[in-house]
This record gives sequence, C-alpha cells and structure tokens, in this order.
Amino acid sequence: MLRKSAGAAQVQQSTAPVPAQTIRFTTPVVETPGVFLLTGWLWRFLRFVCLLPVHYPVMVSSTVASAVVAYVFGWVGLAVAWSVADAGLLVWWRRWPVSFRRCVGLRVLAAWRRIMVYRRHWQPVLVVAGLAESYLERQYLPQIRAVTCSEWADRVRVKIVAGTSPADFEHRVAELAHGFGAPSCRVTVLGPRDVVLEFPRRDTLADPIDSLPVPGSPDLGGLPVGVCEDGSPWLLRLHGTHVLTVGVTGAGKGSVLWSAIRAMTPAIAAGTVQVWAVDPKRMELSYGRALFARYADDGASAVDLLESAVEQMQERAQRYAGKQRAHIPSAADPFVVVVLDEVAFITAYHPDRDIRRRAENAIATLTSQGRSVGFCVLAALQDPRKEVLNLRNLFPDKIALRLDEASQVDMVLGEGARERGANAHLIDPELPGTAFVKLEGSPVPVRVRAGFVTDTDIDTMASSFGSSFGSSSGVGA
Ligand SMILES: Nc1ncnc2c1ncn2[C@@H]1O[C@H](COP(=O)(O)OP(=O)(O)OP(=O)(O)O)[C@@H](O)[C@H]1O
Ligand SMILES: [Mg+2]
Repeated sequence: MLRKSAGAAQVQQSTAPVPAQTIRFTTPVVETPGVFLLTGWLWRFLRFVCLLPVHYPVMVSSTVASAVVAYVFGWVGLAVAWSVADAGLLVWWRRWPVSFRRCVGLRVLAAWRRIMVYRRHWQPVLVVAGLAESYLERQYLPQIRAVTCSEWADRVRVKIVAGTSPADFEHRVAELAHGFGAPSCRVTVLGPRDVVLEFPRRDTLADPIDSLPVPGSPDLGGLPVGVCEDGSPWLLRLHGTHVLTVGVTGAGKGSVLWSAIRAMTPAIAAGTVQVWAVDPKRMELSYGRALFARYADDGASAVDLLESAVEQMQERAQRYAGKQRAHIPSAADPFVVVVLDEVAFITAYHPDRDIRRRAENAIATLTSQGRSVGFCVLAALQDPRKEVLNLRNLFPDKIALRLDEASQVDMVLGEGARERGANAHLIDPELPGTAFVKLEGSPVPVRVRAGFVTDTDIDTMASSFGSSFGSSSGVGA
C-alpha cells in the first residue's frame, strides 16, 4: 500500500529502477568516401614529386642527367659519364678537402640524417615527448623544414604547430636529445613558428685545449680564452663589463682566470693594463705574482687592495666628470682588472664581520661604478647561492662551469638558461674548464672550454712580461 506524505509524493516501484543516466551525445561516425581518400593520397604524392627538385636538387638533377645520358648514349655512355664525374669528385676531395666537405660531404650527411634519424623517429619521439598537439581528434605535429649539418652538430629547422610556443621545446630538450640519440639539444628561436633544434653529433670539447697563443695586440673587448663548441674562438670581454666565473671545486675556474690574464700579457707589459690579484687560497694566482701590479692573499690586505681600487676609480671618475664619457686604456690611465679568486672568502666566510662588510661594499662600488672608467672585476666563486654572494647581479657577464645543482644554472646564467640547454650541472667532471656562457646578442647559452694554462706557461709569461712589475708590487706583494 502506498502512502502519500504531506510533502513531496514518493512512489515506490516494485522493481528496482535503473539509475538515471545523463544524456550523452556521441559524435556520429561518418565514413569518408573512398574517392576523397584517393584524392588526398594522390594530392600528397603529386606534391611530394613536385617538391623533390626543391628539397633534393642535386639528387634530382643528377638522376635526370643520368637518364638523359643513358637515353642518348646508351649504358656505356652513362658508365663513362659517371666515371668522369667520380674522378672529378675524387680530385676535388683530394685537392680541396674543405670545400668538398662543405659542399658535398656535409650535404650528403644532412640528407642521410634527415631521412634515417629525424624523419624516421620524428613522430614517435615528438608524440612521446608531448610535443604533438590534438585538435578535433586530429593530431598535429611540428614539421621539419630543413636539416643541415655542420662539422659537429645537426641543425633541424622546425615549423612549430600554430598555438604552441618555442618554450614547449625548451622544456623538453632532454627528451629530444635522448630521443634522437644526441648528447644534448639546444633550442634557438628564429622567428614566429620558426625554431632550430641543434643536436651535437660528438663532443668537440672532449680533448683538453692547450693555452691559446698570446695575441700581439690584445682586444680587451674580446680576449681569446678558449674554444666554443662549434670550433670558433671563445672571446671574453673585460673592458666595459665585470665577469663572474662560477663552478664547484675542480671545475677549472683557474683556467678561465689565467686564460684571460694570459691574453692580456702584452698590454700588461706595455702598462696599459694592470691586474690586481686577490688569492685567499694562495694556490692559484700566487704563482704568477710577477704579473700583478698589486697582490693580496689575506682578508685585511684584500680589503685594502679593494678599497684602494675604489679610491683610484673615484679619483678617475672625478677627473673624467664632464670631460670624457668612456675610458681609453693608456699608460697614464691603465685598464685595471681586479681578479678575485674565491671571492666568497672575503664576502661570506671571513671570520671578521668588518672585513666582510668592507669587502662587500668595495666590490659593490667597483662593479656598479667601475665599468665606464676602466675598472673591471673578474671574480671566481664556488657557490652561487644568494647568501654566499649578494652581489651576483652586479656582474653583467657570467660563466657557468660545472655546478652542483640544476637550480644553480639559472642563478648564474639567468632565468630560462637551463631550459635552453645550459646543463652546467651535467658537465662531466672529467672535462674541467668546460662551461656555458651567453655570448653577446644571443640569449642561447653556448658551451665553451677554456684553454689550460700550465705552470710552465705562467712561468714563461711572468719571465717575459712580468719583470716590469718587480718594483711596483703593492699590498701583500
Ligand atoms: N681548461 C682546462 N683544461 C683541462 N684541464 C683543466 C682545465 N682547467 C683545469 N683543469 C684541471 O682541473 C684541475 C682543477 O682546476 P682548477 O684548479 O682551475 O679548478 P678550480 O675551479 O679553480 O677549483 P678550486 O675551486 O678548488 O680552486 C687542474 O689542476 C687541472 O688539472
Ligand atoms: Mg681555483
């Protein structure tokens, strides 16, 4: 018997009801007529054939030429033509190997790698890496525009899917590198929807680089201190900037400092450059003391040296005020490079608080005001964390040698550097002197290796150029 309550009426049914289901709309499946499919395939095939001469001009033209020769002169004529062509290529290779490699070798290699590596693995790698996009149940993949090879790397130019950003690639450099069997991957943005993925084929910096030849007349805007991954010289600017070199113990900070000093030795000898060195560990710069105008190796003398650099800088600024806006190195007004090895010793670790405070103030003043009056601070540091060196951001140029943690990469090279491929925390400990730097005019970090300046090199430099400082040594010298 059903009873009506005073409120809402409830009806108890004798059979259990099916729980209410939400209404679901499903996309109707409409079969594509075969003629549309065939037309699509035909269109793609025709497009492929028509674009062949554009994508592979040499291959298409030589095939066509061979067919014409075979048609006109027969198979013997074709064999003769190919033998002549082969002999020509052989002569080219033997006589002009560089141009042969550039015009033939690397192009053949690029075509091969385009087909066998990138085209072949493109879809699975990009889908698994999460770089394929879906819209209305269709999959959209970034397209390979071109593959070119240099001596050491493949450059894959890619048209990214509309609506995505190059940052998606920057976040997945590790997946891409592993996916295509490369040691690393770097992303460069050329323009809208146009990015280049650079995959090194081998490590060009695996072998130590000897100290570089000393330039006859040093260019303080670009001192040769090592080699970039692409084989070009790594030029370090000191005039008009300050440089901070960061790396764990044994990363090779010494080789960066010494390579820079080495490149300046003729100017040091001429008196247009002075190096003021601070070496709290006494194991790095003390070896070449004869090269330095001033030298300090303990907290008190280091602070004296820094404060007298500030004084000289301010005196020079006073003289220049209203008369001169840029510094030109001369014997009267030399370019002063204050080299600080293990700068945290005087700014963070020294037991005397007063020394720490004075050192930090002096470095802050030098780095914030010294640029245009010819004072440069070239500092080395093991630990880039904020609490160790508050002044990190006062150094416009930074060098990231091997670091402890991934998070330190962006601390040194700026936000986004690690995403762009600057894996300084993954640098092999067996490759000291290897670093990531940002070169002028490009946000993309470049892998470099400093030349290794040996004790013998330093002795030679000190004996041939340093004698002129024998009498001018100052604090702690
Ligand atoms: N550019 C280089 N090429 C080859 N080997 C190098 C290079 N730089 C340094 N080394 C080797 O690595 C060792 C450590 O280098 P270095 O003393 O410069 O490290 P560091 O970063 O200054 O360490 P620390 O912070 O302990 O002083 C050197 O003794 C040398 O054998
Ligand atoms: Mg050192």
